[in-house]
Amino acid sequence: MTIAKRESIHGQWSSRLAFVLAATGAAVGLGNIWKFPYILGQNGGGAFVMVYLACILLVATPILITEIMLGRRGRRSPVNAMAELVREERAPPAWRYLGWMSVVTGFLILSYYSVIMGWAIAYVKQAATGSFTGLDGASIKGMFESFVASPMELLFWHTVSIVITMLVVARGVRAGLESFTTLFMPLLFVILLLLVGYGMSTGAFGQALGFLFAPDFSKLTATSIVVALGHAFFTLSIGFGTIMAYGSYMPERASIASTALFIVAADTAVSLLAAMAIYPVVFAHGLEPGAGPGLVFQTLPIAFGQMPLGLMFGTLFFVALVLAAWTSSISMIEPVVAYFVESRGWTRGRAVVVLGFAAWALGILTVLSFNHWAEIRLFGKNFFELLDFVTSNIMLPFGGLMMAVFATWFMRRSSTVEELGLSNAAYTLWRVLTRYVAPLGILVVLLNGLGLLG
Ligand code: TRP
Repeated sequence: MTIAKRESIHGQWSSRLAFVLAATGAAVGLGNIWKFPYILGQNGGGAFVMVYLACILLVATPILITEIMLGRRGRRSPVNAMAELVREERAPPAWRYLGWMSVVTGFLILSYYSVIMGWAIAYVKQAATGSFTGLDGASIKGMFESFVASPMELLFWHTVSIVITMLVVARGVRAGLESFTTLFMPLLFVILLLLVGYGMSTGAFGQALGFLFAPDFSKLTATSIVVALGHAFFTLSIGFGTIMAYGSYMPERASIASTALFIVAADTAVSLLAAMAIYPVVFAHGLEPGAGPGLVFQTLPIAFGQMPLGLMFGTLFFVALVLAAWTSSISMIEPVVAYFVESRGWTRGRAVVVLGFAAWALGILTVLSFNHWAEIRLFGKNFFELLDFVTSNIMLPFGGLMMAVFATWFMRRSSTVEELGLSNAAYTLWRVLTRYVAPLGILVVLLNGLGLLG
């Protein structure tokens, strides 16, 4: 059959560049600037960073390529794309359930992502009104702590996040997602560079680099490795269908692998810059690397409060952070919405309202995890920590594992050769990594980290 007829009913990106920008927008978000710096601190620094980078290169990059490929070939929302591929490749019908994971996971992650995005929006206001000016580390920390202690305040900003996310998704791929993604990414990058420059002036830059890049493997636990692997999936937005959905809007001739490499490079650069901006402030002000989810909100405001033009740069930084989070949050709900539009005949508007409301309601549990329910724990974790752990570190790698196995063990080789259009050597590299290295790596890390290998 010819592949020229394959086209998604939701429209297509206008160009390869549009796909690259949208996928990069989905990748770069709170994961890079909020999550990566604090989890690396909780897991001991340099050794964690090395394991994370290895997971990105050996596991996440080949699976990113795979997921784009599955989406483009299936040309539908993940649920139906998988159904279509199963038919075409004559694979066992149970593979269709893989598509279903996207529906559940996307909306679980959105429920807490939106709460943290709300923090970033609240901090735009703080930055713009000069609340950080001249404050020391202890006062900035106190400010954050009293902020998260107020459920009503968190709920308010969480609501704002969900509403602005729904507004964009309701407008559809071309009008909503595409036009939106371009502008602020370069700005975010520039401000991060500037903050790294500020870090050099703190006198603790060397110490920060040592913490980030000199590995001390005795600090690494089996759980840290699970967290590093899970974060490689989270940060690239792979493992449940976001990228599959975006891939289905990708034009036929664009090269999947080079697009994927660009996304990985941009995403990794932003994460490393964020860490290099945050840790000099941590060490210069005697803060805790293991401070947890508040880390970025307790460090960078100190820098903004002290640097020249800090009011302006602080405001721009948080605006850029909100926009980065926004392009990620819309990407979480898009595959789910696309499914209800395709298969249940819902209008886009209806799908957005129903799903957005459900994610909003579930998000209330995350809001309470930072105050009233902070001490209610299961497996030593509060609700937010447990939800994040299960979704990022178990569901995403499991989804990625399934995609890798499907693409390299159940699809015909000729189909993947055709869709990827790689040189022989590059194709072989992708195939070896996706068929053996990534699935085995994921299995060993998960079984070991969850204590099943004893
Ligand atoms: N990658 C985004 C970030 O780092 C988060 C994200 C967007 C995501 N879409 C996703 C995570 C899909 C998992 C799955 O902020």
